[in-house]
Amino acid sequence: MNDEFLCDSATRIRQLSAEKWGEEKAVELVGRSPAMVDLLGKVEKFARFNEPILIVGESGVGKELFAKACYILSPRNDKPFVSVNCPQYQEGNLTVSELFGHKKGSFTGAVCDRRGLFETADRGVVFLDEIADLHLSAQVMLLRALAEGEFRAVGGTETQTVNVRVIAATNRLLQEMIVAKEFRNDLYFRLCYFRLDVPPLRDRGDDWRLLLEQNLRRLAVTYGVRKTFSDRSLELLASHKWPGNIRELKSIVTIGYSLSDGEFIEPCDFEAQLERSCGSATVAATSAASPGAEVDSYVRMVDGKECFWDAVYAPFMERDLNRTQVRQLLQRGLTETAGNYTRLANLFNVPTDQYHKFMDFLRHHGLKPER
Ligand SMILES: Nc1ncnc2c1ncn2[C@@H]1O[C@H](COP(=O)(O)OP(=O)(O)OP(=O)(O)O)[C@@H](O)[C@H]1O
Ligand SMILES: [Mg+2]
Repeated sequence: MNDEFLCDSATRIRQLSAEKWGEEKAVELVGRSPAMVDLLGKVEKFARFNEPILIVGESGVGKELFAKACYILSPRNDKPFVSVNCPQYQEGNLTVSELFGHKKGSFTGAVCDRRGLFETADRGVVFLDEIADLHLSAQVMLLRALAEGEFRAVGGTETQTVNVRVIAATNRLLQEMIVAKEFRNDLYFRLCYFRLDVPPLRDRGDDWRLLLEQNLRRLAVTYGVRKTFSDRSLELLASHKWPGNIRELKSIVTIGYSLSDGEFIEPCDFEAQLERSCGSATVAATSAASPGAEVDSYVRMVDGKECFWDAVYAPFMERDLNRTQVRQLLQRGLTETAGNYTRLANLFNVPTDQYHKFMDFLRHHGLKPER
């Protein structure tokens, strides 16, 4: 990897992580924008301590990479880094048992004693990915582990001490979940002792050009052919807002690289992907969605009282409505409600207790229209 893509901290992170996990799995945080340098400066400082870190940012901005960067720069980097995908465990007992272990016979299926991930990670780091989805009963246990440094396995009688550093990540607004009583306030304050806000790609200046180049070089090494984006392609990409962030950028480079015939990647090689994955308003609509479908969905909600999930969400997921169309109908609704999102949810027949889900959907898909 060429260091021209990395700032000084990122170079150190890459070297240390390559030593630990090998070149293939090295953490490469490409970017030289002020936002990136500033964030890495915080990572360097926070890494030295033992308090939890909360990493917040849209989908695909690199939260997991930043979590690994915090670990690799920390004095705990010779101890385990254990990653937990919180949505994976939907049932309370199972989540608690996975994290803190269980004793034989404590519930159906607990056929022997089992260590939890906190014990496995002893003196290292536990990375709780998508913490918003952590089951409420596990939230209570985690709070205790963080506040008192101890826990008890499911069905266990003795208290065990815990020495792990917790790094958590989320793309959801935890404050809103706290209001909806879906996330514990006291846990939130414990978790965000240090907070890293990872900016979306659109706020990172020209970093997208470095990422483009880095990915092109990687493909050239793998497939032995060097290709570049044509000037017209670069113009198109420069006007793109990157709602899907770095994961989206990577897939666009790969598609463009694979579909282009010659040395240059032209807009026709990746335009469809650009529209499909992110629906940029700068690209002509190329999806299967039929013109006027957004008017139909709007009328079904406003006049027919159909709910948003049926009239918009489902066709959007099926690609019968594209992002531009969803933006248009949201814009129309917002004009009706004078820009008020609560009233918009009401107008679109979203049940009150699903308001946060509605807002999360808009954010997650880069659909919250600019006003
Ligand atoms: N600064 C960066 N430089 C190079 N690659 C990056 C950078 N940030 C992220 N990536 C790449 O983008 C992809 C998404 O990164 P990552 O999984 O860390 O994001 P995330 O924020 O955790 O996403 P999600 O919210 O979907 O879990 C990965 O392939 C990662 O390697
Ligand atoms: Mg992630």
